[in-house]
Amino acid sequence: MTEQIVILDFGSQYTQVIARRVRECNVYSTIVRYDTPAAKVAAMNPSGLILSGGPSSVYAKDAPLPDKGIFKLGVPVLGICYGLQLLAHFLGGRVEKGQKREYGKGTLTIADRQCALFRNLPAKLQVWNSHGDKLTRLPRDFVVVATTENSDYAAIEHPKKRFFGLQFHPEVAHTPRGREVLSNFVHHVCGCGRDWTMRNYIEQAVEQIRAQVGQERVILGLSGGVDSSVAAALIHKAIGDQLTCIFVNNGLLRAREAEVVQEVFGRHFKIKLQYEDASRLFLKRLKGVTEPERKRKIIGRTFIEVFQAATKRAGKAKFLAQGTLYPDVIESVPIAGNPAALIKSHHNVGGLPRNMKFKLVEPLRCLFKDEVRQLGLELGLPREIVLRQPFPGPGLAVRCLGEVTGEKLQVLRRADAIVVEEMKKADLYYKTWQTFAVLLPVRSVGVQGDERTYDWTLAIRAVESQDGMTADWVKLPYDLLEKISLRITNEVRGLNRVVLDLTSKPPGTIEWE
Ligand code: XMP
Repeated sequence: MTEQIVILDFGSQYTQVIARRVRECNVYSTIVRYDTPAAKVAAMNPSGLILSGGPSSVYAKDAPLPDKGIFKLGVPVLGICYGLQLLAHFLGGRVEKGQKREYGKGTLTIADRQCALFRNLPAKLQVWNSHGDKLTRLPRDFVVVATTENSDYAAIEHPKKRFFGLQFHPEVAHTPRGREVLSNFVHHVCGCGRDWTMRNYIEQAVEQIRAQVGQERVILGLSGGVDSSVAAALIHKAIGDQLTCIFVNNGLLRAREAEVVQEVFGRHFKIKLQYEDASRLFLKRLKGVTEPERKRKIIGRTFIEVFQAATKRAGKAKFLAQGTLYPDVIESVPIAGNPAALIKSHHNVGGLPRNMKFKLVEPLRCLFKDEVRQLGLELGLPREIVLRQPFPGPGLAVRCLGEVTGEKLQVLRRADAIVVEEMKKADLYYKTWQTFAVLLPVRSVGVQGDERTYDWTLAIRAVESQDGMTADWVKLPYDLLEKISLRITNEVRGLNRVVLDLTSKPPGTIEWE
């Protein structure tokens, strides 16, 4: 059984970040609800527990509290922020409302240099805090390990039980050496090895897929995006020709997208690929439709219809494979002020119908996106696919404002390809979250050569983001923008004006529709 750290989620917006940091230490981690019964936690055989932060106060009427039994499992516990306050609350300390909220950078002074959490770290560390309540009396048998300007109990330890509490957040980037603190906890306190790697995971997943599927056949909807592509390569490695991938061309793809998928999966990996060209049907249904939500609905419905018909043609299969990721399946804690719940519902847009009579194969269910990319590279997928930027299900339809026509899509595709190509040349493409072109239904007067033109307008959108929920527009270098603009107006017929989108999210959204 894989060694693991179990993280109890008390509603912190950073719970998933904690889980990722632990995995970056090559130790598997799982997130469970704060009120998971101790017996269930014990059955997971954890090497250690982490209690996340959270927006509540331990004294609030409806404060999320864990099963007391988790403190009797005999495994090390690390409480972060609210997690530290829980340790105090349950083990005889005192927590009170702080005089002032401690928010932002602080300097940690380590008093006890022997403490395993701060092994090989300097005596002073920059840390990041975000808490109102504070500890005012140590829980029984705990000692102070470190202090900050505002707190005499910034890090505490119960040496015998191996319980630790941190008032600051070691998981966030603003605590530059926080990763080492977490690494010390999982390796030097909990004694975990470094077995969680994507190379090892391939073996484990291949075995699991074979055991689940047996001799049956599996169908997978391949979109060309990172998740479905990695799932396809992994499942193919496990069961070869028992897998059939269905790729639907909805006519709303970017330049060369359909070709790349056929090249990589069909010719290179030799995966059975059923290519469904439904572009004419999609365009027919979108004719005359200008309202964004209607466009999305038509595309969603048509996709399901086309995909269902395609699965019938693919022959009898018992399983449907999906590239579901860990953040989609973590049971989120519905605590007020926890944005994690919002992130989840937003990203569940689109997807495949639930009423299809298949059993599911979801080999990426326990992985985070960065792990999926790593896995893709291990499986030999090209960077072009593994490092792909997010692309919405409704495709170019949400970037071709107003009515979508074949002609407009052609113009948009050419312009978008130039944006992508120049961004790659400038070595900026894979460093931004998304960079793309948007075709605006605005005609303006121009002059090209000696001729007066009356053509469409193209907007360039480049944004930086961590999760798509918020985003900042990217200040691309002027000479790059100049090159892109010049190439577009010279090379793409039908466009005579290029503009730059200077809107962050909020108030804008990333896509224009
Ligand atoms: P917005 O435009 O809402 O987009 O700021 C946030 C992120 O989600 C992507 N997006 C979608 N992804 N199906 C998807 O799979 C969709 O319908 C969809 N709409 C937007 C968008 O590209 C951005 O990364």
